Amino acid sequence: MAEPDIKKGLAGVVVDYTAVSKVNPDTNSLLYRGYPVQELAATQPVEAVAHLLWTGELPSEDQLSTLRRTERENRALQPDVKAAIDLIPLDAHPMDEVRTAVSVIGARETRGTLNVMDAVGTPQENLERSIRLFGELPAIVAYSQRRRRGLEPVEARDDLDYAANFLWLTFGEEADEVVVDAFNRSMILYAEHSFNASTFTARVITSTLSDLYSAVVGAIGALKGPLHGGANEAVLHIFDEIGSAENVTPWLDTALAEKRKIMGFGHRVYKRGDSRVPTMKAALDTLVAHYDRPDVAALYDALESEFVARKGIYPNLDYPSGPAYNLIGFDTLTFTPLFVAARVVGWTAHIMEQQASNALIRPLSAYNGPDERHIEGYVPDTSAI
Ligand code: SDX
Repeated sequence: MAEPDIKKGLAGVVVDYTAVSKVNPDTNSLLYRGYPVQELAATQPVEAVAHLLWTGELPSEDQLSTLRRTERENRALQPDVKAAIDLIPLDAHPMDEVRTAVSVIGARETRGTLNVMDAVGTPQENLERSIRLFGELPAIVAYSQRRRRGLEPVEARDDLDYAANFLWLTFGEEADEVVVDAFNRSMILYAEHSFNASTFTARVITSTLSDLYSAVVGAIGALKGPLHGGANEAVLHIFDEIGSAENVTPWLDTALAEKRKIMGFGHRVYKRGDSRVPTMKAALDTLVAHYDRPDVAALYDALESEFVARKGIYPNLDYPSGPAYNLIGFDTLTFTPLFVAARVVGWTAHIMEQQASNALIRPLSAYNGPDERHIEGYVPDTSAI
């Protein structure tokens, strides 16, 4: 019998269409509903990009103010979510807090849906759920960091845009414009990336007609892994290990001898560089100047140039994002939760797309276990057949 054509990790397998974004490794480009992500990052607030990803179009002034109103109405840290987070040990990973918080939100927002056939909700319900979840996540991520520092949550501000409010919630003070702009760009760059592992997880869960929140909880679980979202946190662990630019060569000698994966480098789809990196690197450069940290730039450049020269493997978005978030003042443990707050837009856009044109996602497997065998002494009861 011919060997099955196994595509481990679904590498190179096209499983469906999507109109949400186009990742093109040949041109090293990324389009969100047709717009180059670089143009969006340079000109739009993340709220407008969220509207684009959810609906297919950039918002008019009225549509943006309507979306902003709903998002701002949901910025408060809700008591049920705070109580759930407070049950989690302070030395548990913050991604577990975020995952739990979304579970609690899901239970609250789908109360009364006891007929499982109604779990999936209508397209309009799911668009509204998406906007509310987008609005509620920053308070969760900010509280997670503040509680680890022994600080109380900060009241949300409805006079600030999404990015500025997120920084206000986290640090309790208004951030400088250059910081808000760099953070806004990072949220846009992290918002969406076609069928990455966490988004595909969300689509698999959605394909069973389960609810949006269950799909987001599953996606958070997938994003936590260091081969995926957890890499931005791991980049800072690597920077802390190396210390400064002059230690890069000996550190890399050891790491490569130990066959370690260098976090923040490589990509399943992009093979000659991640299209988002130049835009995020430019944002990092503004932060390096703003905080006067040329040492960060020196270490970043030294590791990138030496690893690319030695392995021909290029940085992905997590590489510039890690040091950028560190300069802004986010705890390293907060980095992947930040990724959740941004990617919830892409996840929910894909959830709604899957709902609109669904087929249960259930691939095949090739069996390579023991041949059929039977329990010793078992005699089938033929009378019942
Ligand atoms: C994200 O899919 C997405 O779009 C994800 C994402 C998104 O926006 O959703 O872009 C976000 O997850 C970016 C990736 C973040 N992960 C990391 O930075 C972790 C480090 N990267 C590697 O683990 C790896 O590059 C992957 C997992 C990202 C991609 O790996 P592939 O495509 O499965 O390729 P592979 O692991 O089979 O590597 C091929 C070869 C191997 O060498 P050999 O075993 O063949 O000798 O390249 C080597 C790998 O060892 N390699 C690396 C490496 N990446 C690949 N070696 C050292 N360090 C690395 N980072």
